[in-house]
Amino acid sequence: LPILLLNGPNLNMLGARQPEVYGTATLEDVVALVERTAAEHGFGVQALQTNHEGEMIDAIGAARGAISGIVINPAAWTHTSVALIDALVLPEVPIIEVHLSNVHARESFRHHSYVSPIAAGVIAGFGIAGYEYAVRHLVTLVS
Ligand code: DQA
Repeated sequence: LPILLLNGPNLNMLGARQPEVYGTATLEDVVALVERTAAEHGFGVQALQTNHEGEMIDAIGAARGAISGIVINPAAWTHTSVALIDALVLPEVPIIEVHLSNVHARESFRHHSYVSPIAAGVIAGFGIAGYEYAVRHLVTLVS
């Protein structure tokens, strides 16, 4: 079963968005990196980026029973959304939380994550390489 790759709000602007914080790689680069890494381990990828919380929640619900695990950068919803974590636990698959930036070195409102307590692991501050590491770890959990 494929890995579900989820990217939250404003990550469609990756590359153009505060490159000093998030780097110059684009969302397309992220998806390509995740697809390449997953393929090395024989996994496909289902990718979604959305700026609409309900759309992400619907996609997670629809993926129930049809995915092996989740790699998610919840972006700002990390710090705000109970609805998102309620959805994320439904598929009962391992979740890896990724942040491009080191959220702990930034504003205090970025220090708390609703997602971390339900995640198998959390990666922050490695730029887009964090997505690759997330996939490499996820496949060890689900293979
Ligand atoms: C982010 C960190 C969040 O605090 C922020 O709201 C984002 C991106 C990151 O990848 O570093 O949108 O998740």
